[in-house]
Amino acid sequence: MYAIIGGSGLANLNELDRRRREVVRTPYGDPSCALTFGTIEGVDLVFLARHGYGHTIAPHEINYRANLWALREVGASQVLAVATVGGIRADLGPGALVIPDQIIDYTSARKGSFFEGPDEPVTHIDFTHPYSEEVRAGFAAAARSIGETVALGATYGCTQGPRLETAAEIRRMQRDGCDLVGMTGMPEAALARELELPYGALAVVANHAAGIGESSQAISLDAIGVVMNLAMERVRRILAACLRASAASAVDAPVGSAPAASPSASAGKTESP
Ligand code: HPA
Repeated sequence: MYAIIGGSGLANLNELDRRRREVVRTPYGDPSCALTFGTIEGVDLVFLARHGYGHTIAPHEINYRANLWALREVGASQVLAVATVGGIRADLGPGALVIPDQIIDYTSARKGSFFEGPDEPVTHIDFTHPYSEEVRAGFAAAARSIGETVALGATYGCTQGPRLETAAEIRRMQRDGCDLVGMTGMPEAALARELELPYGALAVVANHAAGIGESSQAISLDAIGVVMNLAMERVRRILAACLRASAASAVDAPVGSAPAASPSASAGKTESP
């Protein structure tokens, strides 16, 4: 079953044929909201609003561990995350849709691992390629199938928030090789990998990052709303196309055939000796 994590501007999926909501408790506390189950294009999915249904939870206060744990607990096998970002790279202006392939983590003091505590062995995961190639390819094919342009490949820099960045911080991130800046990509992606859940993100550029282009003096929060409303309609269509493709491939697959292994699902976990 697919899981969709909706971020700012995507607290509800209108095209979801809702069946039920379920409150899931986890050993790590409560997820951001009750999980919503339903179908899109006849395909089962579970939806979680990262900031809560009323957008009440700030990026640094999200219980990422509970969110990912709950999704795995209810049977999610793949996570499609939608994330709002600022654009750093020149060609990634407001309204651009991007499928990132790398992450730099600038956050601090977030609970970023399931492997902690006296009873847990020290465990390391491979995170060379933080996003699942299978999920990324699914997003790209879905966008192509409906004629939507998406940028393939970008480095997502995750900041702590909730404040936006200074111009100097963005210049530093640019020197580091970041193309996008957001506040929620980590530890979400790493926790998904710890649970061996294939995870990919579709990033929606809401604004030029601080100090860049029309944000050279300030980031206009009013302008963001307009951009996001238009962009989220395109995101919804891409998500629906993802699910349509998965329904079609389920029909095409020979009975009993195994789903393609994803790089992240096969990524080894390493326990320290
Ligand atoms: N910085 C961090 N996160 C964001 C931004 C930004 O400029 N825009 C949307 N999310």
